[in-house]
Parts: sequence; structure tokens; C-alpha cells
Amino acid sequence: MTCLKMAGLRVAVLLALGVSCLPVHSAEPARGAVSAEEVAKQKAIYDSKGDATPDGYVVGRSLLSYTYILPDEFKRSLGSLGEKDRWLDIGAGEGRAILDYCMARYDAVLNAATDQPGKTELPGKKAKAIAMSIEDRRTPMWHQTATSLEPNHIQYVFGKPLRQYTTDELGGRFQVITDVLGGFSYAQDLTIFMEKTLSLLDLNGSFYTVLQDVRTETGTNKPFYPDARFLTEIADANGGEVRMCTWLKSISCVEVTCEPKGGWKPPLEIYRVKKVCDNVTVPRLAPVHFQAGTPPERGYRVVTSPGPKTEARKD
Ligand SMILES: C[S@@+](CC[C@H](N)C(=O)[O-])C[C@H]1O[C@@H](n2cnc3c(N)ncnc32)[C@H](O)[C@@H]1O
Repeated sequence: MTCLKMAGLRVAVLLALGVSCLPVHSAEPARGAVSAEEVAKQKAIYDSKGDATPDGYVVGRSLLSYTYILPDEFKRSLGSLGEKDRWLDIGAGEGRAILDYCMARYDAVLNAATDQPGKTELPGKKAKAIAMSIEDRRTPMWHQTATSLEPNHIQYVFGKPLRQYTTDELGGRFQVITDVLGGFSYAQDLTIFMEKTLSLLDLNGSFYTVLQDVRTETGTNKPFYPDARFLTEIADANGGEVRMCTWLKSISCVEVTCEPKGGWKPPLEIYRVKKVCDNVTVPRLAPVHFQAGTPPERGYRVVTSPGPKTEARKD
């Protein structure tokens, strides 16, 4: 069964959970097996406003939700950032997690995860943070908070996908990058997405992210919905399955942890990707299937021969 056919069912289950899967779009150019029709449907989801926004397209998760969804280490990483550090949230929606961080709403949660759990304040001033979204979903609260802080302490960038930003445009590298059902779940080209993300990550910095309804590292799970496929699938040159965790671990210069996240329907797999050296090489994946959704259904094939240089590699 396709994701579109499954959309109603997926949404019904996911609504209560704040996790999404519905028909949607992407602002990236159509590539390979990505049809213009599916791209247009995905764009309509990004452009949706008010009541027209699909219920499954959740754009306002709090920092507390991020700490529940992402690996535990995320709290320690964020709680340990100092004023000279930087956090990028890719696919930030309204940017609520960044607002919560700046307004110290969950400092106790972050402090408890650091080496000094007894302290009540985070050290010094907060790190600078950038929220990135294809569409502008800033709220009055975002504008009020940004105005009350030092100029550029928090920034909201929008209008294009991650792959089209240069490091300079974003003011340099980041110590922490997050993606909660944002670009990592929606991007058409995962190779370019990971190349760009890792080029923006500082040495020893970590990228925290999540996918829903994917074959986990242990490989014992099945697609959540009967007769449906996994939301993100990778095949090798012979059509054999490659697990997402295996592909992430095949990237050079990173240490990867993959964890199934119990208690979520559809189930999640959560990831920490720590950059340990600068010579990053991301094995190429060719997009072979893309069906609009929230998130979209995506299929990839591992490319074994060297291909043309991608846009992201030129940065
Ligand atoms: C479902 S919302 C999630 C928002 C937020 N993370 C939350 O949990 O509330 C998806 C977000 O990902 C963004 N997005 C999707 N693909 C992206 C890409 N390739 N680059 C940057 N942002 C992307 C969308 O514009 C949107 O802001």
C-alpha cells in the first residue's frame, strides 16, 4: 500500500503522538525518480497555512519534545554549550525548541544531564542558535523573543532547503545540529543532505536526528502499517536491503549510534552522528522513489561507481 493510500490511517494514529505522515512536498529540484507531480504535492504541504495545513505536519514541538525524542546525549550536548558555541536546528518549523532554550524554559532538564546536575543555571550566556525551515513559520513569539535578545543571537533562515546554504551564509560551523522530522526525513537526496550537514558540523560536534518507520539496526521490525513499505528504504546494487544505520556508519570520519525508540507508533529510530575528523565522505545514494507525505516515502539505491560531483561538494 502506498503512503498516500495510507495517509489517513497514518495521520489518525500519529496525530495524538505529535508525529506525522501525510501527503506533502519539497522545495528541492526534481531528481531521478522524483516526479514533478510529487514535488508539487510536497510543496503544497510546505506552503500550507492555517486550517489547510495537514494535521500530520507538526511544526511546533517544544524543546522538551526534542529531549524526549532525541538520544539522551542531546541534553548533555545542548546543556554544555557556552556563549561562543552555536546550535543549528534543521527543519525547525516555528522554531519553538530554540525559543524554549533561549527563554530557559527547560534549563533544569538540560542541567541535570550535564556533569554538574546540581547547578541551577546554565553556564554563562546561551549559545547562538539558528532555526532553518523551507517555509517561514515564525510566530509573534519568535519575533518578540528575537527582538529582546542581542542582535543575531537567534536567527530564522527560510526560503530554500539546507543543501542550498553555504557555510559562510550561516556564519560558520556548529557544535550541535538537530533535525526532528525535518530535512533528514524530507530531503530528496540524502547524500547531499548528509554532506552538507557534516560540512556544517564542527569537529567533535554532534548531529542528532530521527526517522520514523524505518528498518532498525537489529533488523527485526516490519513496516508499521500492514502491506505498507518503510518510509525510508535503501537497497544495494543487487536490490538487497541496506539499513539506515548501516549506511550512516559507512560515512567516513563519524561515530554513529542508532537506537530504536520504544513507545512510539509508528516506531522511531534515533541517531547521534559525531564528527571525529574532517575528511568526511558520504557514500552516494540515488533517489529511486519519492512519494509526497508528512514525511514523504523515499527509496534509494547505493551507487557504487563514482558519480558526478554534487552541488554540495562544491561548497
Ligand atoms: C514537520 S516540520 C518539523 C518542525 C519541527 N522540527 C518540529 O518538530 O516541530 C518539517 C520542517 O522541516 C523543514 N524541511 C523539510 N525539508 C527540509 C530541507 N531539505 N532543508 C531544510 N528544512 C527542511 C520544513 O520546512 C519544516 O520546517
